[in-house]
Amino acid sequence: MPSTVVVGAQWGDEGKGKIVDLLAQESDVVCRYQGGPNAGHTIVADGETWKLRQMPSGVVSGTTSVIGAGCVVDAQVFLDEIDLLRGRGIDPSIVVLSGNAHLIMPWHVTIDRASERRLGSLQIGTTRRGIGPTYADKASRIGIRVQDVLDAKILRQKIEVALAEKNLWLEKIYDVEPFDLEVVWAQYAGFAERIAPFVGDVSLLVDDALRAGKRVLFEGAQATMLDLDHGSYPFVTSSNPIASGAATGIGIGPTRIDRVLGVSKAYVTRVGEGPFPSEIEGSDQARLRELGGEYGTVTGRERRCGWLDLVALRYAVRVNGLTSLALTKLDVLSTFEELPVCVRYTLRDGSETEHFPAHQSDFHHARPVFETLPGWAQPLDDASTVDELPPEARAYVEFVSRALDVPIELVGVGAARDRVLA
Ligand code: GDP
Ligand code: IMO
Ligand code: MG
Repeated sequence: MPSTVVVGAQWGDEGKGKIVDLLAQESDVVCRYQGGPNAGHTIVADGETWKLRQMPSGVVSGTTSVIGAGCVVDAQVFLDEIDLLRGRGIDPSIVVLSGNAHLIMPWHVTIDRASERRLGSLQIGTTRRGIGPTYADKASRIGIRVQDVLDAKILRQKIEVALAEKNLWLEKIYDVEPFDLEVVWAQYAGFAERIAPFVGDVSLLVDDALRAGKRVLFEGAQATMLDLDHGSYPFVTSSNPIASGAATGIGIGPTRIDRVLGVSKAYVTRVGEGPFPSEIEGSDQARLRELGGEYGTVTGRERRCGWLDLVALRYAVRVNGLTSLALTKLDVLSTFEELPVCVRYTLRDGSETEHFPAHQSDFHHARPVFETLPGWAQPLDDASTVDELPPEARAYVEFVSRALDVPIELVGVGAARDRVLA
């Protein structure tokens, strides 16, 4: 099976980076297809910890790593990560960046922050990395793309046109300082020289690889419930993390994708605002956060913690067409005597459903129905195969697989690359 999408099945931070790094060992190309430096993917390999925001997690193993047209790119973060690769002895020429990807410009970051401030209590809780404003300009067809940095004249003109409008907004609507054309231009002309060697035809590269029977991995950032079209709108990101986004974001046909591996924690976390039915009430929330180290990689914010939500996961199976699941961080649940799992929602009219509500208000008011499974109350450090897991831990995994009717292919029992059971 040469091509696999790895996609977040919950609200992000499921451990996608770790799973991609693991599968990258047996892959020829790894592709990021959407999102930008709002992602934070942590990889622990050979005793070293990597925190990547912009690069595909394939870089850690030195695999060819491409950033597709569906991504948004912060030039400074991109170049910092190129330097990080060099510093750790990895030849950065493995990285190929699509000329069609959009650049996150400084005003996008300023607008993201200012707009969240204006929203006040209605804010989304974005990562403040300029993601929404960049995708908005892309959709409005006034964005600046990576390929624009290849031509100094075009780049200057585009910055000038953008600033003529953005500065008005910044001053008149958001009451913040405008940007100076010469300053931005000088900064981006400097980036241009350093970015240019990495720009390539990503769609063609991936198509060639697939035709040659090579193994291609598509790495989703963010997750199903943060998908712009199918997530918990408006508390979502501004791109399409779901599996079909891989085809659009890279520039290949959907028929080229063979498998879709969803990644889910054995519980759930969410960063930012928005409804979260299985969010834990009481002291177990903080306990789980501490045990799982649930603090954002990008923003350092506390991640909200919940018990596993099978209704939301069943939805992820549907909208991604998951062919299998990786269940990560099972080890984090090891000290709990009992483990509630959300199996259904109760809706406002008192009816119960196994299916994710189609309408926002129903989801906002949905209450979880929990079934409680026995915990195993012992560490999983010694298990090196699924058969060596305590019977209650195996039963937990089997329960999830049965409820979703999806095989669980991988089980995460620790942060390090080798702490995954097949
Ligand atoms: P991503 O955004 O989906 O790539 O996930 P993050 O890297 O933001 O968050 C996942 C965190 O859990 C990281 O700190 C990983 O090192 C860690 N992690 C991943 N899998 C496991 C696991 O099976 N057990 C434990 N204890 N930690 C894990
Ligand atoms: P990875 O790839 C978790 C959340 C933000 C906010 C919403 C919109 O590490 O799983 P944005 O900055 O994208 O406009 O924020 O989406 N969010 C994430 N939550 N993991 C992520 O990435 C996220 N990227 C964005 O917290 O609620
Ligand atoms: Mg993350």
